[in-house]
Amino acid sequence: MKKTVKFLALVLAIATVLSLAACGSDKKVVTIATNAEFPPFEYFEGEKMVGAEIDMAYALAEKMGVEIEITHIDFDAALTGAATGKYDMAISGITATDDRRKNMNFSDAYYKASQAIIVTADSDITTAADLADGKIVSCQEGTTGEQYLLDNDYMIQSFKTGSEAITALVAGKVDAVVIDDAVAKALSAEQNGKTKVLDEAMTKEEYAIAIKLGNDEFTAEVNEAIAALKADGSLKEIFAKYDLVID
Ligand code: ARG
Repeated sequence: MKKTVKFLALVLAIATVLSLAACGSDKKVVTIATNAEFPPFEYFEGEKMVGAEIDMAYALAEKMGVEIEITHIDFDAALTGAATGKYDMAISGITATDDRRKNMNFSDAYYKASQAIIVTADSDITTAADLADGKIVSCQEGTTGEQYLLDNDYMIQSFKTGSEAITALVAGKVDAVVIDDAVAKALSAEQNGKTKVLDEAMTKEEYAIAIKLGNDEFTAEVNEAIAALKADGSLKEIFAKYDLVID
C-alpha cells in the first residue's frame, strides 16, 4: 500500500514537470499577424519566417517580457486582424496613414520608406510620369502602393503578393511594379538582371505596428519597448543585418 502511494506520488511529480515543460513558461502570449511576402522585412526561408521585422518582433517580446506567436496571412487580413483585435498586433511593413488611423492604433514609427518603381532592364520608363500613358502598373493588394496608383489614376493590376506582381512584369504582362523601395530592391535582385529599380522616391511613408483602435495601454507598452530598442542601438543593428538603414 505504502509503496503504491509513493509510486503514485512519483508519477504525479513527473507529470507535473512534463506539463510545465510543455507550457514553456507562464508568460503572456502576444499574437502577431504578418504577411511574410515582403523581403527583407518578413519572408520565408524554407518553412521559417525570417526578416528584419521578425527579428524586431522577438526583440520587442524580450523587452516586454512576453512570448509571441506570429501568423502569416494576406496583407489586408493582417491589417483587419489587428484592427478588430483578432491579433494583438500586426507587424508587416505597415505604413501609418491617416486613413488607417481611423480604424486602428499605430505604435511610434520605426522605419522610413517610399514607393519605388520596378521596370524591366530594357524598359523606356525612366520616371513616374512615364507610367501615365496607357501603361499597366502592378502592385500588392491593399497597400499604400496600390493607393498611390489609384489616387494618380494609373491603370493597375493588383496581386496578392509583390512577387506575383514582379512575375507579371518579367512575363511582359504589365509595364511596371510599384512597391516599397527596400522590397523593390530585394525582389528585383532575385530576377537575374531582368529588372531594375528606378531611382525615384514617390512617397514619404513610415512603418509602425498596428494595434486595435483604443487599445492605448498596450500601444504605450509597445512604444516603450520600441523606444528601448532604439535607445540601446539594437533596432539599428537588427535592420543593418538586412542592409536596412534606420535613422
Ligand atoms: N507599406 C505598404 C503599406 O503599408 C506595404 C506593406 C506590405 N507589407 C507586407 N508585408 N506585404 O501598405
